[in-house]
Amino acid sequence: MLAVIGGSGLTQLANLDVSHREVLRTPYGEPSGAVTFGQICGRPVAFLARHGYGHTIPPHEVNYRANLWALAQRGVVAIISVASVGSIRADLKPGDIVIPHQIIDYTWGRKSTFHEGPDCTLTHIDFTEPYDRALREKLIGAAAAAGIAVSERSVYAATQGPRLETAAEINRFERDGADVVGMTGMPEAALARELAVPYAAISVVANYAAGRADSSEGISFESIQGVLVESMGRVRTIIETLVGCVD
Ligand code: HPA
Repeated sequence: MLAVIGGSGLTQLANLDVSHREVLRTPYGEPSGAVTFGQICGRPVAFLARHGYGHTIPPHEVNYRANLWALAQRGVVAIISVASVGSIRADLKPGDIVIPHQIIDYTWGRKSTFHEGPDCTLTHIDFTEPYDRALREKLIGAAAAAGIAVSERSVYAATQGPRLETAAEINRFERDGADVVGMTGMPEAALARELAVPYAAISVVANYAAGRADSSEGISFESIQGVLVESMGRVRTIIETLVGCVD
């Protein structure tokens, strides 16, 4: 079963034919909300709203461990993360869809591993490629099959939030090699890898990052929301197309 973790702009999957919801308990506390189970085109899919169904949990307070543990425990075989991002690159415009291939982690103070505490065995996961290669390829293939343009490579800078960045921070991320910036990509991707669940991301560009293009004087949260409504329709179509190729 495929699972989708939806972020800002995707608090439910409109094309999901819902069968039931489950409140799952984990050794790491409460997930962001009940997991919604259902079918898309007759194939089973699970959905979890990362910020809660009322969109009340800020990025630094999401219980990423509980979310990932709950999905893995329910037997999901692949996770697609959907999230909005700011664009650092001039050629990635608001509304564009990006399938990132790399991550730089600037977050701090988040519970970012299952491997800690008194009884843990010391483990260092390989994270050279933070997203599952085969799942990314399926996502890119699904977008192509649906006739939806996506940018196939970009480096995702994960920031702590909840504030947006300064213009100087964005300049630094660009020097570091980042193309887009978001607040939820980590530790989610690393935790999925620790649980050996294939994980890939679809990022929707909501705005130019701070100091860039029409964000040179500031970023309006309202304009971000407007862009997301239209783009998430295309994201749903990609997911619908992908569902046919994940068991
Ligand atoms: N910065 C960080 N996270 C974001 C942004 C941004 O500009 N836009 C949407 N999520």
